[in-house]
Amino acid sequence: MKKIALLLLAFPLLFACGEAPTEKVEAPAERSESTKDIIAKMKLATDHHSYARPNEAKVTHLSWDASVDFSTKVIAGTATYAIQAKDSAERIILDIRELTIEQVTTNDGGAVEFEIGPEAEFLGQALSIPITSETNEISITYSSSPEAEALLWVEGEDPFLFTQSQAILARTWIPCQDSPGIRFTYDAKVSVPGGLLALMSAENPTEANEAGVYTFKMEQPIPSYLMALAVGNIAYAPVGDRTAVYATPDLIDAAKYEFEEMNDMLVAAEELYGDYAWGRYDLLILPAAFPFGGMENPRLTFATPTIIAGDRSLTSLVAHELAHSWSGNLVTNATWDDFWLNEGFTVYFEQRIMEAVYGRETSEMLATLSYQGLTVEVDEIMDLNPNDTHLKLHLQGRNPDDGMSAIAYDKGYFFLRLIEETVGREKFDAFLKEYFQGNAFKVMDTERFITYLKGELLTPEDEKTINLEAWIYGAGLPDNIPSVASDRLVEVDSALSEWSKGFIPTPELKWNDWAYQERYRFLSNLPESTTFDQMKDLDDSFGITQTGNNEVLFAWLEQSILHDYTPAYPRVETFLVDVGRRKFLTPLYRGMKETGKIDMARSIYEKARPNYHAVAYNTMDELLAE
Ligand code: BES
Ligand code: ZN
Repeated sequence: MKKIALLLLAFPLLFACGEAPTEKVEAPAERSESTKDIIAKMKLATDHHSYARPNEAKVTHLSWDASVDFSTKVIAGTATYAIQAKDSAERIILDIRELTIEQVTTNDGGAVEFEIGPEAEFLGQALSIPITSETNEISITYSSSPEAEALLWVEGEDPFLFTQSQAILARTWIPCQDSPGIRFTYDAKVSVPGGLLALMSAENPTEANEAGVYTFKMEQPIPSYLMALAVGNIAYAPVGDRTAVYATPDLIDAAKYEFEEMNDMLVAAEELYGDYAWGRYDLLILPAAFPFGGMENPRLTFATPTIIAGDRSLTSLVAHELAHSWSGNLVTNATWDDFWLNEGFTVYFEQRIMEAVYGRETSEMLATLSYQGLTVEVDEIMDLNPNDTHLKLHLQGRNPDDGMSAIAYDKGYFFLRLIEETVGREKFDAFLKEYFQGNAFKVMDTERFITYLKGELLTPEDEKTINLEAWIYGAGLPDNIPSVASDRLVEVDSALSEWSKGFIPTPELKWNDWAYQERYRFLSNLPESTTFDQMKDLDDSFGITQTGNNEVLFAWLEQSILHDYTPAYPRVETFLVDVGRRKFLTPLYRGMKETGKIDMARSIYEKARPNYHAVAYNTMDELLAE
């Protein structure tokens, strides 16, 4: 990214990238006095993905007044921020991307002359607003572009709009200091077409009204990547006292049934690592075009409908997003280079919730599947860029989306599991609870975490056993990676090996007794030698092409592509046209590309692309380019 480097040289004042704000330190607790003091004095990592300079001037509260226009695909309105600045600060800098700024006013300057910097790839532009020592409020009137990358406008009889802000897309729909280290509270008033319901990552309404005007409040400070909005024909169904599901009317009953255990998960999570800090925990089922499985928007997780299987088998995703209410939303990665602090901790916590609610056997099956996925991905990334297998990433000058691999998630998970197994679960749990509570609403970077870990938990002996250096700053998977133990999946592996050699006839497989994890394990490990007839046998015996479990279906469609099992091709096409979840799309399109079916891939993609979110089509455009 030479372009950015040049800009930085040419405009040092305007374009020096922001530092996450230094934190105020509370009176330290006795035991941890020295560690906390040391950490407080450490310089926080610099966020290279924001123009903001929070050490000079930062936002503290947003009042957002906006209207949503489906016919023009534009969000327009006013973002009014309370700000905090050094007396000497002459400007406050926000991030914007493809926003049209109509006017900026300040409490003491009226309409002021703002400046907009040159555009950089991914980062957008700096919006620089002059301030004085008297300025405590700025107000920006603006509109978004129909191409705004955070937004997906789903057309049709029932229009639907949703946002996806993480990592640095919030700036495409709200001018903001778009850095995970900068937190603000917010309130909002949003106008949408009458009869549609609007929801945010905030205190939410439960019912649509004819005027289409809604107000919101988020009283806990959050970083911009957790700003979220959804608008559509959305119904509401309570699950527990503090939990509910929102979904389109056709899915609301199924969703209520599927996520009935949400409340148990919430209770289990609180028992592990302390009180839930956000009031309610609700779940919004989005259209299938949602590019991710889930997104931990505070108070309202956004989720793909592909986790509705009818049998509550894919709920680990909810455990994951719920866990983010602590890891990520409460203690937040300072920069996207520290992404593993969000996701690795969350996978660890997710596993612990799953173990508490469904038992160790289930959580070990999940851990085994994670391990399998991780080893495959590590091999792939080692070939491309071994540095990307470090837990601590180097994303400066790159799209932070590049950091979204199994490394942050599953290498992060196994690292934390190694610590647990080294110090013992009891000690580790006490440590984690204090980590979340003591750092609540603060940022964390990798170096601070290491200092904290060494100071509060590990003995020199533990450190030797674990080898932090290798895990965090080294490539690949260290030898001391914990081993997972799932008897059930070991049995599946031997059944697969026998079956593939023809020793077990297909109808004698225990397919119908298997949980989704066992089916997934079987299908995702089909040997290369699997024949068309074997594929057909599986399909005839168990109707896999018709399965309602999207994880199993995905594994099956991938194998169908790799083994030229043509009877499943129509399902490949309908799946890819209906579903926009990138985790499924990439392997399927890549499978077609790598097995000489690029024409099939392109012809399906042509139909499917208009339904995809930018996060998904940017990846597929690259994959399917000449
Ligand atoms: N926060 C992530 C999604 C994300 C990460 C969006 C980075 C944009 C940039 C979310 O919590 C997540 O990890 N989702 C996973 C599900 C999970 C069960 C691993 C997904 O969508 O696949
Ligand atoms: Zn996550």
